[in-house]
Amino acid sequence: MLDTLKRSELLRTLNFIDGRWCRPATGRELAVLDPASLEAVAHVADSAAADARAALDAAHAAFPAWRERTGRERAQLLKKWHALIVAHQEDLARIVSAEQGKPLAEARGEVLYGASYVEWFAEEATRTHGDLIPEPVRGKKLMAVKEPVGVVAAITPWNFPLAMIARKLAPALAAGCTVVAKPAEDTPLTAAALVALAEEAGFPAGSINLVLASRERTPEVVDVWLADPRVRKITFTGSTPVGKHLARASADTLKKLSLELGGNAPFIVFEDADIDAAVEGLMVSKFRNGGQTCVCPNRVYVHSAVHDRFVDKLASRVGALKVGPASDPASQIGPMINGRAVEKIDRHVRDAVARGARAVTGGRVLREPEVAGRGHYFAPTVLVGATPQMELSCEETFGPVVPVFRFDGEDEVVRLANDTPFGLAAYFYSRDAARIWRVADRLEAGIVGINEGALAAEAAPFGGVKESGYGREGSRHGLDDYQHVKYLCQGGLK
Ligand code: SIN
Repeated sequence: MLDTLKRSELLRTLNFIDGRWCRPATGRELAVLDPASLEAVAHVADSAAADARAALDAAHAAFPAWRERTGRERAQLLKKWHALIVAHQEDLARIVSAEQGKPLAEARGEVLYGASYVEWFAEEATRTHGDLIPEPVRGKKLMAVKEPVGVVAAITPWNFPLAMIARKLAPALAAGCTVVAKPAEDTPLTAAALVALAEEAGFPAGSINLVLASRERTPEVVDVWLADPRVRKITFTGSTPVGKHLARASADTLKKLSLELGGNAPFIVFEDADIDAAVEGLMVSKFRNGGQTCVCPNRVYVHSAVHDRFVDKLASRVGALKVGPASDPASQIGPMINGRAVEKIDRHVRDAVARGARAVTGGRVLREPEVAGRGHYFAPTVLVGATPQMELSCEETFGPVVPVFRFDGEDEVVRLANDTPFGLAAYFYSRDAARIWRVADRLEAGIVGINEGALAAEAAPFGGVKESGYGREGSRHGLDDYQHVKYLCQGGLK
């Protein structure tokens, strides 16, 4: 897929530090695999502590001049970057698909989704208003102004290799922060291509620095940033255990944190729901990126009165999904990111079946010749008879599996939905207005979909509660997370 890029120079394999593409201090390389074929599509820098330090030195040196620019000046660069991302949608989508595996149509959508955050924060850069506070005593003026926090370390996941880094870098830069970034080892090429376009847009040297590293060397890179007081904020999307580690390890220097962590989203279908709409909403929310999305429904609760009707309709839609490599335009579900991912999905399904669930469709690993290539595939699956004792009820499956639980009452299902340490997204379908407000109020989640499966948008605050983390991405709240408030008090005015 990468041999058809219109601009092959978007394929970058080195670190980007202080405005230069440079080899890692280790001289080592890391192979980037196509998850559909398991063949290497590129070899990129595998960095170490020295590279992380050099990136941080550059970001720290660039900060004073970058924060001095006006919001409008920063916005102009972000707008140029946005225009370049949109202009290179096709090349970027091919890079996303090649290293992440999602079907090309979905990758194109991800490029525009990521670009929308860059555009949004370009606009927000000019609106970082403070407050003029009515003085409590005569002769004083009280003001609150917003300032960039300083150098930001962004650590991003593999599931949305473009959108996740875009929605961290764009608000950081808009706020006046400089950045050191480390993308996931599975998907460094997209991040590097995005940074190449930022370079082309004209961001000054040191404002954006990118360090690539393997899973093994990532702790060495990130530990430099965690320990150094010059890093004032960590923004991370990934697992809850890693998020907790980052929170603990940054405590000594009291960094600001945005943690977008694991989910275990409930999806509730009440007896008064529009069943066709609920099936459609579930298809959209569950099968995005093959189920490898933090906000994917992980537990589907269906009222007994509509259970069988819902399951029949759902199973016929899920059974018809086409599984295959991103290179096949017919594919709707691509390979899972790696072997470990498929092992976990398979473990969850086997555990559920052993405890009494039944696969209405799917339920197994797919291999050649059923699918092309050596990639790790799992058949889109609907399981009925799911119970809270099953592993898939407690842990995020992160794959194309829908476990269906029966319920009979509103209080019961709200209790079940909230019975998890996580609280990222929750969804429910109902046509009863009073119930809608009651349930929306009682669900413990940062994001709630009401008769809607597609929730993410640049204008909306994205983030969780409980062990799904804190901080928000997107919306005006997404900019606040990269700023602090300074209170100014001027006296002697009588
Ligand atoms: C995620 O999976 O972490 C993000 C998904 C989204 O932006 O909707």
